[in-house]
Amino acid sequence: MPVDVETPWSGASRPDSAPLLRVEGVTRHFTVSGRRIDVLRDCTFQVERGEIVAVVGQSGSGKSTLLNVLGLLDRPSGGSYVFDGVDTTRLGEGRRSRLRGEGIGFVFQQFHLLERRTALANVGVPLVLGGVPLLRRRARARELLEAMGLGHRLHSRPHQLSGGEQQRVALARALSRDPALILADEPTGALDAASSTMIMEQLLEQARSRDAAVVVVTHDPQVAGRADRVVELVEGRTR
Ligand SMILES: Nc1ncnc2c1ncn2[C@@H]1O[C@H](COP(=O)(O)OP(=O)(O)OP(=O)(O)O)[C@@H](O)[C@H]1O
Ligand SMILES: [Mg+2]
Repeated sequence: MPVDVETPWSGASRPDSAPLLRVEGVTRHFTVSGRRIDVLRDCTFQVERGEIVAVVGQSGSGKSTLLNVLGLLDRPSGGSYVFDGVDTTRLGEGRRSRLRGEGIGFVFQQFHLLERRTALANVGVPLVLGGVPLLRRRARARELLEAMGLGHRLHSRPHQLSGGEQQRVALARALSRDPALILADEPTGALDAASSTMIMEQLLEQARSRDAAVVVVTHDPQVAGRADRVVELVEGRTR
């Protein structure tokens, strides 16, 4: 059934059996010095609500490019991407950015925290963008940081935290608006083995307790082993 762009599913009327997202025949090419580079050639898969999916593939196979498309940070060159019942390929920037802010949380390999802000303030950043008032922001950020074992680090700045602690702050930030989808691009790539295990445990536990889906790019077979499903990218094609 084609999805009506003008009337996306809302609240009670949304069929929860529908996948959270579906990419179909997605392509993405770039032009560098007049030469066309085909990065994503044919990506087709779907992710159910609450599902944990690992994306694996060689360096340069297009994993980050794919994640940028899923995160509505980039548009595919071809094919379709339906997120939460909405065909995003036909949406304007305003609606894409609202959908992104409300529905998607990001975790990156390099934590991308604001250096001069405390853990509490960093976790509150998406809530500022969502128009949440200060006191509710603080309460929410505190609750998330406490859930992640960082109740004693609320006022620390990133350089005062270990790598694993910084990534837990980044994870709390990603969760702050209760997104239906968490996108993580090698979230443990900059961490030692013990911190990696802890971050993955927390990512999966937090996602499962909120019924959030996770798409995690990883080189780590242990991480891929924790996923419900693995999508492999080979030269820009999913299989
Ligand atoms: N904006 C861009 N302009 C031109 N080429 C790009 C652009 N973004 C990505 N590419 C190219 O697309 C290919 C895939 O890049 P991508 O970052 O998606 O790979 P990856 O699978 O995430 O690799 P890694 O495991 O090393 O992170 C690379 O060859 C890269 O140079
Ligand atoms: Mg990458």
